[in-house]
Amino acid sequence: MIHFTLNGKNLQTNIDSNMPLLWLLRDEFKLTGTKFGCGKGLCGACTVLVNKKAIRSCITPIKQIENLQVTTIEAIDTLVIDDKPVGRKVQQSWQALNVPQCGYCQSGQIMSATALLITNSAPNSEEIKHSMSGNICRCGTYQRIRKAIQHSAS
Ligand code: FES
Repeated sequence: MIHFTLNGKNLQTNIDSNMPLLWLLRDEFKLTGTKFGCGKGLCGACTVLVNKKAIRSCITPIKQIENLQVTTIEAIDTLVIDDKPVGRKVQQSWQALNVPQCGYCQSGQIMSATALLITNSAPNSEEIKHSMSGNICRCGTYQRIRKAIQHSAS
């Protein structure tokens, strides 16, 4: 039995502990905001936060989340760090700057952006570029993503 916290709720599962977290989220908990892209840890579409750090849920077996806190896009607006609603601010910036095109990669982008802003509340453009380099967008919305992160930090 694996115990963990998902979006603030204490949960447990006895599903095969080698199953990738992505499928636990999507198939068992119907949290379909987290997307499947490559399945190999290369595109970032499946990014979620585990103990406030960005991880690739497609290559993270459930056993690695034992007693940890998982946050998905569905609860990003509740994420408060040092009394600041970091997740909500990122979401609002994404909306204000109309970041998505097709939208498929954007939940992963938002999770990675939030993880960056948790550790660095005012990243410069190089830090943003470096930190977001593992999140691929086939529509090429990179400029708007970077602007939205700067907007969130301001
Ligand atoms: Fe996980 Fe691409 S689906 S990194």
